This record gives sequence, structure tokens and C-alpha cells, in this order.
Amino acid sequence: MERIVFDKVVDRSNTHSVKWDAVGKVFGKDDVLPMWVADMDFHPPKAVTDALKDRIDHGIFGYTFVPMSVTEAIQDWMKKRHDCEFKKSSILFSEGVVPSISTAIRAYTEKGDKVLVHSPVYTPFFNMVKNNNRTLVTSNLVVEKGRFEMDFADFEAKLQDDVKMFILCNPHNPGGRVWTREELEKIGNLCVKHGVLIVSDEIHSDLVFKPNVHIPIASIKEEFREITTTFVAPSKTFNLAGLQASAALIPNKELKAKFKEVQEQQGFFTLNAFAIAGMEAAYREGEEWLEELLVYLDENMKITTDFIAEHLPALKPMKAHATYLLWIDCRELGLSDEEIKNQLLEKGKLGLEPGTKYGEGGEGFVRMNLACPRETLYEGLERLKKAFC
Ligand SMILES: Cc1ncc(COP(=O)(O)O)c(C=O)c1O
Repeated sequence: MERIVFDKVVDRSNTHSVKWDAVGKVFGKDDVLPMWVADMDFHPPKAVTDALKDRIDHGIFGYTFVPMSVTEAIQDWMKKRHDCEFKKSSILFSEGVVPSISTAIRAYTEKGDKVLVHSPVYTPFFNMVKNNNRTLVTSNLVVEKGRFEMDFADFEAKLQDDVKMFILCNPHNPGGRVWTREELEKIGNLCVKHGVLIVSDEIHSDLVFKPNVHIPIASIKEEFREITTTFVAPSKTFNLAGLQASAALIPNKELKAKFKEVQEQQGFFTLNAFAIAGMEAAYREGEEWLEELLVYLDENMKITTDFIAEHLPALKPMKAHATYLLWIDCRELGLSDEEIKNQLLEKGKLGLEPGTKYGEGGEGFVRMNLACPRETLYEGLERLKKAFC
């Protein structure tokens, strides 16, 4: 096995990288170190690159179908990594989790119907509900002892008010929270009780730091499985977002048929040649790489939180159980969101995500992407210090 080197700095400029090449457009200036959008500055597992090279070497890129071997690779991965069994017949494909969220909204709800999400949460949750002319309902997460907790009383009150579907983010972006079995059971039981469907975005489920364990909500009870549509993808896990490949796991036959019907209305039938090759190689041969990645990311998290505690004690990062995203509470600085943004850009020359992007409850926070080589990380931390010292 080739040594896996996450320390290697790879120049990503001029690759149409959103993170690196869209900096000027997004932040209004070019001299910004990008630690924002959620992809990693690492090469994927060698097996993935080899599979893609083989595909290129073949040289003909005609129409494709997704072979059963990819379905089986996902099925085996879910069993091995998450102790959750899905029948092959319950697995569908999609070009991304965000498109899948939109498909689920169209498939399971009508225009005007209420869809519940937590706040703060990954921005497209809000946008997909609104873009599809559904009514957005939010239940705010609360920060307790430095981590996000759900407000179950508020959650149930919202469910009772004619909500049709709840979109769960587990693990949670931006908070890096892995929801516990007890929390998921409460959510599931409430959704069953009030006849609300669950769409569970589990795209970050492979990026969980020990001893935390990801529990797919569909794995808890048969009743939950019947009402849940789960989305997974190799894009975060193996840094393959540009390949555009994801899977929808839908055990309930009726829901699966509805989901498929909307996909077909939109003309979606298959994945592209590279998505197929990359996805199978990642799930079949990427596990060892992933284990090493998790060690590296965990260390990046520790370096960052130690640095902040030493040099920027007014900033309070939330302890991340998962993801490579650090949600940092900047409220003690006493600055407005505009001032935080300006100081990061003008003094620090650092591109982070503003907390306000993630909805109510994000004010005074920023999200920092730590999936980069140590050299880049240290540079980012120095810039963070410059911004606020
Ligand atoms: C919770 C969550 N869901 C979905 C996505 C994006 O998924 P995709 O690129 O497959 O559309 C992200 C990317 O950051 C995410 O954090």
C-alpha cells in the first residue's frame, strides 16, 4: 500500500475549483486564503484516481447505466461502516444530495405544504424548500454547554402544525454534531406520531471521530425505516464532490416509486461514467485511506482548538464530533457580523463562511473548513489571529 500523504500541498488554482478559483467573486478580493466551501484540499484514495484513469484510458464515453456492482458497494459499505442493511431494491442514485433533497420535496409534498428543518443548518435545506414553493418551518437548535441541542417541545409543536416532512442533517452541518440514539429515537417517534416523513441527509456520516458513532435514523426501528429517505454520498468522505454522485436509500416501496417518478420527470436516469467508476472504487477500496484521513482531520481539529484557546480565547469553537468543519462562536468579540466579515477579509485575508448563511442562530458565528494540509492550516490560523488581535 502506498503511503498516504495528507501533508502534501496541492495547487488547486485553475481547476475551476469553487473553493479556490471563485474566491474573487465570492469575497470581492483575490488575496484571501479559502477555508470556506466544504471540500478538501487532499487527493482522493489512489484506487479512485486509478479507476478514473482506467476509464479515461479506455477512451469512449458513451451512454452509461449504473451497474449492480455499485449498488452492492453501497449496500456493503452501509452494513460494514454503519451496521445498517438496505436491500438492493431500495437504492437509487442521484447526481447529488442537494438535488435529491429537492426531488424528495417534490415527490412527497405539494406546493404550499410545510417542511420543517432545524436552524442553523446547511443553507440549501432552506433554499430547496423555498425554491419548490413549499412553506419553510424552522425549529431552532439551542447551544447548551457549548454544543447544539434540539428543542423537542418546539419541534413537536411545529410538527403538529400540519408539517408534512422533516429534513434532518445527521451529522449536523455546521455544528459537527452526531445526534445520539436517544435524540434520533425522540425525533423518529415524534415524526411517526404526527405522520411526518423524514428525509435524512447523512452525507457527513463517514467523517465521524471516535468514540462518536453515526447511527442512521432508518436503522433504529422498522417504523422509522418506513418513513425515512436517507441520502449518502462519497463526495464528502472521499473528496469527490466534482464527480457528482450520491445515493438515495428508500426502503418504503411507495416512497421510492414517488421519488423515482420525479427523477424521471426531470430526465434523470443515470450517473456519468466517472461518477460510476469513482463511486465504486471509493466504497470498495477507500476504507484504509478514510481511516488515515480521520486521524489527520482529528489532529487538525485539535491543533485549531488549541491554537484558538491560546491566542484567541474570546472565540469559542464548538467541539466537532464529525465533519471537517469547525463552528466558531465569535460573539464574545462584541462585533457585528459585518465587522467579523470585514476583519477576516481585510485584516486576516481569510475566507470563512459567515454564520448568518446557516439561518437564525448563526449570528456571531463563523464556519471554518479544516480539511487541508498542516501548512495551509497553520497559515489559516495565523490569519485568524491577525483578523481579531
Ligand atoms: C449536509 C450537506 N448536504 C449536502 C451537501 C452537498 O451535497 P451534494 O454536493 O451531493 O449536492 C453538503 C455539502 O457541504 C452538506 O454539508
